[in-house]
Amino acid sequence: MNNVTPIKGDGPSHVAIIMDGNGRWATQRGRPRLFGHQAGAKRVRQVVSKCPELGVKYLTIFAFSTENWKRTQSEVAGLMALFRRYITREANFLHQLGTRVRFIGEREKLDEKLQKLMNYLEELTAENDETHLTIALNYGARDEVTRATQRLAVEVAEKRLRPEQVNTEVLASFLDTCMLPDPDLVIRTSGEARISNFLLWQSAYAEYEFIDTLWPDFSPDVFADVVARFSGRDRRFGAVKA
Ligand code: IPE
Ligand code: IPE
Ligand code: MG
Repeated sequence: MNNVTPIKGDGPSHVAIIMDGNGRWATQRGRPRLFGHQAGAKRVRQVVSKCPELGVKYLTIFAFSTENWKRTQSEVAGLMALFRRYITREANFLHQLGTRVRFIGEREKLDEKLQKLMNYLEELTAENDETHLTIALNYGARDEVTRATQRLAVEVAEKRLRPEQVNTEVLASFLDTCMLPDPDLVIRTSGEARISNFLLWQSAYAEYEFIDTLWPDFSPDVFADVVARFSGRDRRFGAVKA
């Protein structure tokens, strides 16, 4: 039972989620790993739908990392097919919900059909403002910072920017997340207590919640519970409160 009252106001405005545990969820049921990924994908719409009630304006979800290419060819191909199907099936639902969808990560390495669908969904939902959903697909924080640094270096080399003008704001403006506030809360499901190359720069002052629930079991009630725990935390940002 969920008896947590919505905490609009002092809750996290930006929640980022490392959606982990799909493979174990499937294995526990004697099913192939892709069965878990399908169940995980189905969860996303419920979690997005819950955001307005919880006061969560920005939701960022980790769908595929730059390191996930190391998995078997069949799992990677299955995931890519799932992402294509997901966008095709969910586009209208997300649009009607008023969700603005964006993707972060390195797109060039994804197949062209998937890239086209990603662009389509971003354009379809570009005017929406209810919930800002950012999907990290072929995303790795080190890759993101490296790409940002390359672009920054070009600006300096071509003398549009002087080295001494580079500060934290300028660097942040070159990241994939330049249009997003920093996450207030980062949730990782499945019991692993690591970051796995997710939003390293942006999460400098985020609160973390590592929960045992496997991603396909992450219900709106579990989401509400985790978000409610956030409001009890004392965030100091390096200062001492008066
Ligand atoms: C997360 O679930 C989804 C992706 C990384 C694509 P996993 O596939 O990592 O599931 P586990 O960690 O093996 O259970
Ligand atoms: C992180 O999960 C990436 C995603 C959830 C997309 P992984 O399952 O890939 O992370 P590790 O391998 O356990 O660190
Ligand atoms: Mg995993």
